[in-house]
Amino acid sequence: MSLSINMQNITISCDSPQYLPAVKRLSDQLGIVLFSGSKVDEKAEAHPNDQGYVLVVGESGISLHPKDRRLHGPIRVDFNNGANSHRRRFGGGNGQAIAKAIGVSGRFCPSVLDLTAGLGGDAFVLASLGCDVKLFERNAIIACLLRDGVERAIAAGIDDPELRDVMGRLKFLECDSFDAVRSLTDEERPDVIYLDPMFPHRKKSAKVKKEMQAFQNIVGGDDDADALLKLAINSARYRVVIKRSSNAEFLADLQPTYSLTGKSTRFDIFALRKIPS
Ligand SMILES: C[S@@+](CC[C@H](N)C(=O)[O-])C[C@H]1O[C@@H](n2cnc3c(N)ncnc32)[C@H](O)[C@@H]1O
Repeated sequence: MSLSINMQNITISCDSPQYLPAVKRLSDQLGIVLFSGSKVDEKAEAHPNDQGYVLVVGESGISLHPKDRRLHGPIRVDFNNGANSHRRRFGGGNGQAIAKAIGVSGRFCPSVLDLTAGLGGDAFVLASLGCDVKLFERNAIIACLLRDGVERAIAAGIDDPELRDVMGRLKFLECDSFDAVRSLTDEERPDVIYLDPMFPHRKKSAKVKKEMQAFQNIVGGDDDADALLKLAINSARYRVVIKRSSNAEFLADLQPTYSLTGKSTRFDIFALRKIPS
């Protein structure tokens, strides 16, 4: 049994009738019309050069598959296993560059607004370190993958008190960060604002990770990121932190107070006030 929904180049599919209610809910969330009768066969041959994607609802949640399977494997948010879980347990705690950039220490754990949530990996690291993190995502497909991952992790937290605590610190909202930040009251101002926007990649690189390829195809470039940085600088209490490729130009051409540069990633830090110690 298979049921499909077309939205531009996105199709939704499920293999078993038991997931039909979930597929219908998803079609409502994404605001697209449900077609019955059309079929997507997940086992069918790959569609070379087809830039489309299939969102598959199944036993392990929602995953995003490129129709051209040469592009990359399926993408799914999983906070309870794999890379996210490994990093939570063995990632290096406050010694990690992201922790230093945000200003996490044994004495102070800033509250963080992540204005570019994506698949929530960075926000999850910060919540694992003890930060209260609110994260916003505006792209409906990315948000649907993230919401699914958050819901599964909350369910898994019933049997895992540590994961439950981490998920208790992570609040996800599907919205545009411009709206969310503009409507903050003074008490709601976060200690730190975190940004990891997309930027246009002119060349296809073999080094680009599979998630990044999907982001490039589905989200494109975040052309308004310069304006988001300026809004963030006016809204954070202590810091604004931007994640970039180590060789990328500064966002909005603004010189940060300082940068932490690693092999492939750089954190640019706008230090607005001294973090309490
Ligand atoms: C490179 S990804 C972020 C990856 C993320 N740091 C992670 O760990 O998975 C950038 C994301 O920011 C989102 N984004 C960009 N501008 C936004 C805005 N103004 N409001 C909400 N989301 C935004 C994009 O849709 C995209 O999903």
